[in-house]
Amino acid sequence: MFATVQKFTPLAINFAPHCIISTMPTAALHSPADRPALRAAHLRKVYGGLTALDDVSFTVNRGEIVGLLGPNGAGKTTTINMVLGVLAATTGSVEIDGIDISRQRARALARTNFAAVYAPLPGNLTVIENLRFFALLYGIESLRGRVEELLRQFDLAHLRHTKCGLLSSGEQTRAALAKALLNRPQLLLLDEPTASLDPSAAQLIRAKIKALATEDQCGILWTSHNMNEVEDVCDRVLFLSHGKVLLEGNPRALPREHGSATLEDLFIRVAREPLTAFADVTP
Ligand SMILES: Nc1ncnc2c1ncn2[C@@H]1O[C@H](COP(=O)(O)OP(=O)(O)OP(=O)(O)O)[C@@H](O)[C@H]1O
Ligand SMILES: [Mg+2]
Repeated sequence: MFATVQKFTPLAINFAPHCIISTMPTAALHSPADRPALRAAHLRKVYGGLTALDDVSFTVNRGEIVGLLGPNGAGKTTTINMVLGVLAATTGSVEIDGIDISRQRARALARTNFAAVYAPLPGNLTVIENLRFFALLYGIESLRGRVEELLRQFDLAHLRHTKCGLLSSGEQTRAALAKALLNRPQLLLLDEPTASLDPSAAQLIRAKIKALATEDQCGILWTSHNMNEVEDVCDRVLFLSHGKVLLEGNPRALPREHGSATLEDLFIRVAREPLTAFADVTP
Protein backbone atom coordinates (compact mmCIF):
# COMPACT_ATOMS: atom_id res chain seq x y z
CA MET A 1 0.00 0.00 0.00
CA PHE A 2 2.72 2.48 0.94
CA ALA A 3 4.43 2.09 -2.41
CA THR A 4 1.58 4.02 -4.08
CA VAL A 5 1.75 7.01 -1.72
CA GLN A 6 3.80 9.95 -2.97
CA LYS A 7 5.51 12.13 -0.38
CA PHE A 8 7.12 15.49 -0.77
CA THR A 9 8.32 18.15 1.64
CA PRO A 10 7.20 21.80 1.65
CA LEU A 11 10.66 22.72 0.35
CA ALA A 12 10.34 20.28 -2.51
CA ILE A 13 6.98 21.69 -3.59
CA ASN A 14 8.46 25.17 -3.66
CA PHE A 15 11.31 24.08 -5.86
CA ALA A 16 9.74 21.43 -8.03
CA PRO A 17 7.83 23.76 -10.36
CA HIS A 18 10.81 26.03 -10.82
CA CYS A 19 13.70 23.61 -11.08
CA ILE A 20 12.85 22.43 -14.56
CA ILE A 21 12.29 25.84 -16.06
CA SER A 22 14.68 26.79 -18.77
CA THR A 23 15.77 30.39 -19.23
CA MET A 24 12.91 31.43 -21.48
CA PRO A 25 12.35 35.19 -21.95
CA THR A 26 9.00 36.02 -20.35
CA ALA A 27 8.18 38.46 -23.18
CA ALA A 28 7.93 35.46 -25.54
CA LEU A 29 5.15 33.88 -23.50
CA HIS A 30 2.13 36.05 -24.33
CA SER A 31 -0.83 34.25 -25.82
CA PRO A 32 -4.40 34.88 -27.01
CA ALA A 33 -6.59 36.38 -24.28
CA ASP A 34 -9.48 33.98 -25.02
CA ARG A 35 -7.45 30.84 -24.32
CA PRO A 36 -8.07 29.64 -20.73
CA ALA A 37 -5.15 30.09 -18.37
CA LEU A 38 -5.91 26.62 -16.98
CA ARG A 39 -7.98 23.70 -18.16
CA ALA A 40 -8.16 20.66 -15.86
CA ALA A 41 -10.04 17.68 -17.29
CA HIS A 42 -11.25 14.59 -15.44
CA LEU A 43 -8.56 14.77 -12.74
CA ARG A 44 -8.44 11.77 -10.48
CA LYS A 45 -5.95 11.03 -7.70
CA VAL A 46 -5.88 7.81 -5.74
CA TYR A 47 -3.63 7.37 -2.70
CA GLY A 48 -3.59 3.70 -1.82
CA GLY A 49 -7.22 3.03 -0.82
CA LEU A 50 -8.26 6.72 -0.77
CA THR A 51 -9.71 8.58 -3.77
CA ALA A 52 -8.61 12.15 -3.00
CA LEU A 53 -9.90 13.58 -6.31
CA ASP A 54 -12.63 12.00 -8.38
CA ASP A 55 -13.21 13.21 -11.95
CA VAL A 56 -12.67 16.93 -11.35
CA SER A 57 -12.91 19.22 -14.40
CA PHE A 58 -12.76 23.03 -14.49
CA THR A 59 -11.22 25.99 -16.23
CA VAL A 60 -9.71 29.28 -15.09
CA ASN A 61 -9.96 32.00 -17.71
CA ARG A 62 -7.50 34.82 -18.23
CA GLY A 63 -8.34 37.70 -15.88
CA GLU A 64 -10.57 35.48 -13.73
CA ILE A 65 -10.19 34.65 -10.02
CA VAL A 66 -11.60 31.23 -9.23
CA GLY A 67 -12.01 30.12 -5.62
CA LEU A 68 -11.40 26.47 -4.87
CA LEU A 69 -13.43 25.87 -1.71
CA GLY A 70 -14.13 22.88 0.44
CA PRO A 71 -13.70 21.42 3.92
CA ASN A 72 -10.38 20.11 5.22
CA GLY A 73 -9.34 17.09 3.19
CA ALA A 74 -11.67 17.91 0.26
CA GLY A 75 -8.80 17.78 -2.27
CA LYS A 76 -7.89 21.45 -2.84
CA THR A 77 -4.15 21.16 -2.25
CA THR A 78 -4.08 17.88 -4.16
CA THR A 79 -5.63 19.71 -7.13
CA ILE A 80 -3.05 22.51 -6.95
CA ASN A 81 -0.18 20.04 -6.69
CA MET A 82 -1.42 18.22 -9.77
CA VAL A 83 -1.70 21.47 -11.73
CA LEU A 84 1.90 22.23 -10.75
CA GLY A 85 2.98 18.78 -11.81
CA VAL A 86 4.51 17.95 -8.40
CA LEU A 87 1.90 15.19 -8.07
CA ALA A 88 1.14 12.91 -10.99
CA ALA A 89 -2.55 12.51 -11.74
CA THR A 90 -3.80 8.94 -11.55
CA THR A 91 -5.82 9.90 -14.65
CA GLY A 92 -6.85 13.17 -16.29
CA SER A 93 -5.07 16.08 -17.91
CA VAL A 94 -3.92 19.62 -17.19
CA GLU A 95 -3.35 22.32 -19.79
CA ILE A 96 -1.80 25.67 -18.87
CA ASP A 97 -2.34 28.29 -21.56
CA GLY A 98 -3.19 25.42 -23.94
CA ILE A 99 0.01 23.49 -23.13
CA ASP A 100 -0.31 19.95 -21.79
CA ILE A 101 1.88 19.74 -18.68
CA SER A 102 2.51 16.03 -19.14
CA ARG A 103 4.12 16.75 -22.56
CA GLN A 104 5.72 20.19 -22.20
CA ARG A 105 6.05 20.77 -18.50
CA ALA A 106 8.83 23.38 -18.63
CA ARG A 107 6.95 25.52 -21.18
CA ALA A 108 3.72 25.26 -19.20
CA LEU A 109 5.32 26.08 -15.85
CA ALA A 110 7.24 29.06 -17.22
CA ARG A 111 3.80 30.75 -17.40
CA THR A 112 2.79 29.72 -13.89
CA ASN A 113 3.63 30.55 -10.29
CA PHE A 114 2.54 29.52 -6.86
CA ALA A 115 2.44 30.63 -3.21
CA ALA A 116 1.25 28.87 -0.06
CA VAL A 117 1.86 29.30 3.65
CA TYR A 118 3.06 25.72 3.93
CA ALA A 119 5.77 26.27 1.30
CA PRO A 120 7.92 29.11 2.67
CA LEU A 121 11.00 30.31 0.82
CA PRO A 122 14.32 28.74 1.92
CA GLY A 123 14.94 30.15 5.39
CA ASN A 124 18.73 30.38 5.21
CA LEU A 125 18.63 32.83 2.28
CA THR A 126 17.78 36.51 2.71
CA VAL A 127 14.74 38.01 1.02
CA ILE A 128 16.79 39.49 -1.80
CA GLU A 129 18.86 36.31 -2.26
CA ASN A 130 15.65 34.31 -2.58
CA LEU A 131 14.10 36.70 -5.09
CA ARG A 132 17.29 36.81 -7.18
CA PHE A 133 17.62 33.05 -7.03
CA PHE A 134 14.07 32.42 -8.28
CA ALA A 135 14.40 35.24 -10.84
CA LEU A 136 17.47 33.46 -12.24
CA LEU A 137 15.56 30.17 -12.42
CA TYR A 138 12.84 31.93 -14.42
CA GLY A 139 15.31 33.73 -16.67
CA ILE A 140 13.77 37.10 -15.77
CA GLU A 141 14.93 39.96 -17.95
CA SER A 142 15.97 43.13 -16.07
CA LEU A 143 16.31 41.01 -12.96
CA ARG A 144 17.57 43.78 -10.66
CA GLY A 145 14.73 46.17 -11.58
CA ARG A 146 12.02 43.49 -11.27
CA VAL A 147 13.27 42.41 -7.84
CA GLU A 148 13.37 46.02 -6.60
CA GLU A 149 9.85 46.63 -7.95
CA LEU A 150 8.50 43.62 -6.04
CA LEU A 151 10.37 44.53 -2.85
CA ARG A 152 8.62 47.91 -3.00
CA GLN A 153 5.20 46.51 -3.94
CA PHE A 154 5.18 44.04 -1.04
CA ASP A 155 6.73 46.42 1.50
CA LEU A 156 9.83 44.25 1.83
CA ALA A 157 12.58 46.78 1.02
CA HIS A 158 13.58 47.22 4.67
CA LEU A 159 13.77 43.43 5.07
CA ARG A 160 15.88 42.76 1.98
CA HIS A 161 18.90 41.51 3.95
CA THR A 162 16.90 39.53 6.53
CA LYS A 163 16.98 35.74 6.27
CA CYS A 164 13.55 34.45 5.29
CA GLY A 165 13.57 31.99 8.20
CA LEU A 166 13.59 34.95 10.61
CA LEU A 167 10.63 36.78 9.07
CA SER A 168 7.25 36.84 10.82
CA SER A 169 4.65 34.63 9.19
CA GLY A 170 2.95 37.64 7.57
CA GLU A 171 6.31 38.85 6.20
CA GLN A 172 7.05 35.36 4.88
CA THR A 173 3.72 35.39 3.08
CA ARG A 174 4.54 38.73 1.45
CA ALA A 175 7.95 37.41 0.39
CA ALA A 176 6.35 34.26 -1.07
CA LEU A 177 3.84 36.40 -3.01
CA ALA A 178 6.64 38.62 -4.33
CA LYS A 179 8.39 35.47 -5.55
CA ALA A 180 5.15 34.27 -7.12
CA LEU A 181 4.89 37.38 -9.31
CA LEU A 182 8.53 37.45 -10.49
CA ASN A 183 7.78 35.91 -13.89
CA ARG A 184 4.49 37.85 -14.45
CA PRO A 185 2.56 34.55 -14.49
CA GLN A 186 -0.46 33.94 -16.70
CA LEU A 187 -1.66 31.42 -14.12
CA LEU A 188 -1.21 32.00 -10.40
CA LEU A 189 -2.01 29.30 -7.85
CA LEU A 190 -2.55 30.60 -4.34
CA ASP A 191 -3.18 28.07 -1.57
CA GLU A 192 -4.59 30.02 1.41
CA PRO A 193 -2.47 33.09 0.61
CA THR A 194 -3.90 35.29 3.35
CA ALA A 195 -4.07 32.65 6.10
CA SER A 196 -1.37 34.27 8.25
CA LEU A 197 -1.93 37.93 7.39
CA ASP A 198 -3.42 40.54 9.71
CA PRO A 199 -6.68 42.09 8.40
CA SER A 200 -4.96 45.19 7.04
CA ALA A 201 -2.21 43.25 5.25
CA ALA A 202 -4.79 40.76 3.93
CA GLN A 203 -6.85 43.59 2.45
CA LEU A 204 -3.78 45.03 0.69
CA ILE A 205 -2.87 41.62 -0.71
CA ARG A 206 -6.44 41.05 -1.95
CA ALA A 207 -6.34 44.40 -3.75
CA LYS A 208 -3.02 43.49 -5.40
CA ILE A 209 -4.31 40.12 -6.52
CA LYS A 210 -7.50 41.65 -7.96
CA ALA A 211 -5.42 44.21 -9.85
CA LEU A 212 -3.23 41.42 -11.19
CA ALA A 213 -6.29 39.71 -12.65
CA THR A 214 -7.84 42.83 -14.17
CA GLU A 215 -4.73 44.69 -15.32
CA ASP A 216 -2.39 41.83 -16.28
CA GLN A 217 -5.16 39.37 -17.27
CA CYS A 218 -3.64 36.71 -15.01
CA GLY A 219 -5.88 33.71 -14.25
CA ILE A 220 -5.88 32.95 -10.52
CA LEU A 221 -6.89 29.80 -8.64
CA TRP A 222 -7.30 30.70 -4.97
CA THR A 223 -8.09 28.56 -1.94
CA SER A 224 -9.37 30.09 1.27
CA HIS A 225 -11.50 29.19 4.27
CA ASN A 226 -12.52 32.85 4.71
CA MET A 227 -15.89 33.18 2.97
CA ASN A 228 -16.00 36.99 3.28
CA GLU A 229 -12.72 37.12 1.45
CA VAL A 230 -13.96 34.70 -1.20
CA GLU A 231 -17.07 36.83 -1.83
CA ASP A 232 -14.88 39.90 -2.14
CA VAL A 233 -12.23 38.41 -4.42
CA CYS A 234 -13.56 35.53 -6.50
CA ASP A 235 -15.46 35.80 -9.79
CA ARG A 236 -16.44 32.15 -9.56
CA VAL A 237 -16.14 29.38 -6.99
CA LEU A 238 -15.98 25.60 -7.10
CA PHE A 239 -17.08 23.70 -4.01
CA LEU A 240 -15.15 20.47 -3.56
CA SER A 241 -16.24 17.79 -1.14
CA HIS A 242 -14.68 14.35 -0.83
CA GLY A 243 -12.76 15.00 -4.04
CA LYS A 244 -15.80 15.91 -6.18
CA VAL A 245 -17.03 19.29 -7.46
CA LEU A 246 -20.47 19.68 -5.89
CA LEU A 247 -21.30 23.28 -6.81
CA GLU A 248 -19.97 25.93 -9.13
CA GLY A 249 -21.02 29.56 -9.60
CA ASN A 250 -20.81 33.19 -8.60
CA PRO A 251 -20.07 33.40 -4.85
CA ARG A 252 -22.47 36.33 -4.47
CA ALA A 253 -25.37 34.53 -6.20
CA LEU A 254 -24.86 30.90 -5.10
CA PRO A 255 -26.22 31.25 -1.53
CA ARG A 256 -29.55 32.66 -2.80
CA GLU A 257 -29.78 30.03 -5.54
CA HIS A 258 -29.44 27.27 -2.93
CA GLY A 259 -31.56 28.72 -0.15
CA SER A 260 -28.75 29.81 2.16
CA ALA A 261 -28.41 33.22 3.77
CA THR A 262 -24.66 33.54 3.26
CA LEU A 263 -21.77 31.84 1.50
CA GLU A 264 -20.55 30.62 4.88
CA ASP A 265 -23.93 28.98 5.60
CA LEU A 266 -23.86 27.34 2.18
CA PHE A 267 -20.29 26.15 2.78
CA ILE A 268 -21.32 24.54 6.06
CA ARG A 269 -24.30 22.82 4.40
CA VAL A 270 -22.19 21.52 1.52
CA ALA A 271 -19.53 20.30 3.93
CA ARG A 272 -22.05 18.41 6.06
CA GLU A 273 -24.56 17.12 3.52
CA PRO A 274 -24.13 13.69 1.96
CA LEU A 275 -22.64 13.88 -1.55
CA THR A 276 -25.97 13.13 -3.24
CA ALA A 277 -27.70 16.25 -1.83
CA PHE A 278 -26.19 18.56 -4.45
CA ALA A 279 -25.88 16.01 -7.24
CA ASP A 280 -28.51 17.75 -9.42
CA VAL A 281 -26.49 20.98 -9.58
CA THR A 282 -23.07 19.49 -10.26
CA PRO A 283 -21.71 21.08 -13.46
N1 LIG B 1 0.65 11.99 0.20
C1 LIG B 1 -0.55 11.57 0.62
N2 LIG B 1 -0.77 10.30 0.93
C2 LIG B 1 -1.98 9.84 1.31
N3 LIG B 1 -3.07 10.63 1.43
C3 LIG B 1 -2.92 11.92 1.14
C4 LIG B 1 -1.66 12.48 0.71
N4 LIG B 1 -1.83 13.81 0.49
C5 LIG B 1 -3.13 14.07 0.76
N5 LIG B 1 -3.77 12.95 1.14
C6 LIG B 1 -5.21 12.85 1.49
O1 LIG B 1 -5.96 13.36 0.41
C7 LIG B 1 -7.11 14.07 0.87
C8 LIG B 1 -7.13 15.45 0.27
O2 LIG B 1 -6.09 16.23 0.87
P1 LIG B 1 -5.81 17.74 0.49
O3 LIG B 1 -4.52 18.12 1.15
O4 LIG B 1 -5.90 17.89 -0.97
O5 LIG B 1 -7.04 18.48 1.17
P2 LIG B 1 -7.38 20.03 1.25
O6 LIG B 1 -8.71 20.21 0.60
O7 LIG B 1 -6.26 20.84 0.74
O8 LIG B 1 -7.58 20.24 2.83
P3 LIG B 1 -7.18 21.50 3.80
O9 LIG B 1 -8.33 22.46 3.75
O10 LIG B 1 -7.09 20.83 5.15
O11 LIG B 1 -5.88 22.09 3.34
C9 LIG B 1 -7.03 14.04 2.40
O12 LIG B 1 -7.88 13.02 2.86
C10 LIG B 1 -5.57 13.73 2.68
O13 LIG B 1 -5.43 13.04 3.91
MG1 LIG C 1 -4.94 22.23 1.62
